[in-house]
Amino acid sequence: MSATLILGLQWGDEGKGKIVDVLSKDADLVCRFQGGHNAGHTLKVDNEKKVLHLIPSGILHPSTVCVIGNGVVLSLSSLLTEIENLEKSGINFKDRFFISQNCSLILESHIAIDVARDKQEGIGTTGRGIGPAYEDKVARRSIRLGDLFDEGTLPSKVDKLVSYHNTVLQEIYQANPVDINAVIEELLNQKDKLEPFTTDVADLLKREHTNGKNIIFEGAQGSMLDIDHGSYPFVTSSSTTSGGVVAGSGFGAQHISKTIGIIKAYCTRVGSGPFPTELFDAAGDHMATVGNEFGSTTGRQRRCGWLDLKALDQIIFTNSVTELCITKLDVLTGLDTIDVCVDYDADKKPIYKSFPGWKEDIESATEFAELPKAAQDYLSYIEQYLGIPIKIISVGPERDSTFTK
Ligand code: GDP
Ligand code: IMO
Ligand code: MG
Repeated sequence: MSATLILGLQWGDEGKGKIVDVLSKDADLVCRFQGGHNAGHTLKVDNEKKVLHLIPSGILHPSTVCVIGNGVVLSLSSLLTEIENLEKSGINFKDRFFISQNCSLILESHIAIDVARDKQEGIGTTGRGIGPAYEDKVARRSIRLGDLFDEGTLPSKVDKLVSYHNTVLQEIYQANPVDINAVIEELLNQKDKLEPFTTDVADLLKREHTNGKNIIFEGAQGSMLDIDHGSYPFVTSSSTTSGGVVAGSGFGAQHISKTIGIIKAYCTRVGSGPFPTELFDAAGDHMATVGNEFGSTTGRQRRCGWLDLKALDQIIFTNSVTELCITKLDVLTGLDTIDVCVDYDADKKPIYKSFPGWKEDIESATEFAELPKAAQDYLSYIEQYLGIPIKIISVGPERDSTFTK
């Protein structure tokens, strides 16, 4: 019996999907608890790539149950497309995929507001309606998944909410209104497909935990995008840190036995906002090119920079991280020197410690001892600075390019 929480500790895209897929081999259940289809989690198995947005990254393991907790904001059209595509590639959802009836829905009007607003505010959102959907949740006016099954009240609830959205769209953003009847019709068409998946997820988790099952919680985004602890206002609208699990699934914090923090061997960010260690030189170009740093959801080029240990130290405390996983170490191969931020000066500029790089190809390494000395020293310094062990090392996108330490 164990419950493992897997979180990205930077600005997202740390390789959470790959690691959750690898660890799901031994998991009975994988649960998403926050975010929505702003996430893009890439799994590469036998040279075939799959990008998941809402479906938990355990789905490729046929006996692993996948669950979406109440904290996720749900675009039903995105979800159904994702299910359909995965089914086409032979993946079965029957009796192994469940969604909380309490998930707030993302409607077309949320997306319209997100896009219109971001043109003015320039956060650089993914344009998936995430912020507006969470606003409605907190304002207690969301349409929730469970509402679909009360056909008597659904149309009036949707009418009230989308009318409000249309006022915002027209009066504040001079944007086109959304067709309310089309939204109602689409929801009514989708409801039968969703009914078999809809359940009380908190109850399911309690039963599975009590029955001694191994559970993984899969974080989306990263801690520095957290609505409270991230680089506000350049953040997403959910709790991406460990507290999000309790709120977003109903699973008590004390039942979590292990929290794995995932870090890239360097750092990336998509969208606007501060990034103290960002690079605008050949090293940054190397990371972007060799690391193929383009967003899995929007295709935007990711900004690249050095690892920021000072920021990680705080966020590890906030999340109660017990061990680290480092990904994309192979991307640093070929750099002459590798810097890490160890502090900030009085002007809040990073203070770096420099390490020699390595030239040897490390993609086929299967244990720590096979890494070049320079790579070992880099990892050992990170462990020493942060005071927790690096237990998983990833040296390529494939499942096999992963080893434990
Ligand atoms: P997530 O959002 O945290 O799941 O990460 P993304 O999937 O958005 O981005 C990570 C990208 O890096 C994906 O394209 C992965 O296939 C790839 N990746 C993951 N781990 C490694 C690694 O160790 N080395 C390399 N070169 N690529 C990796
Ligand atoms: P995964 O799970 C990287 C960023 C957006 C933007 C900010 C707010 O793949 O790591 P939003 O649409 O959430 O309101 O956008 O958050 N962002 C991500 N960046 N990876 C993600 O997810 C992200 N999800 C949102 O780029 O800066
Ligand atoms: Mg991603």
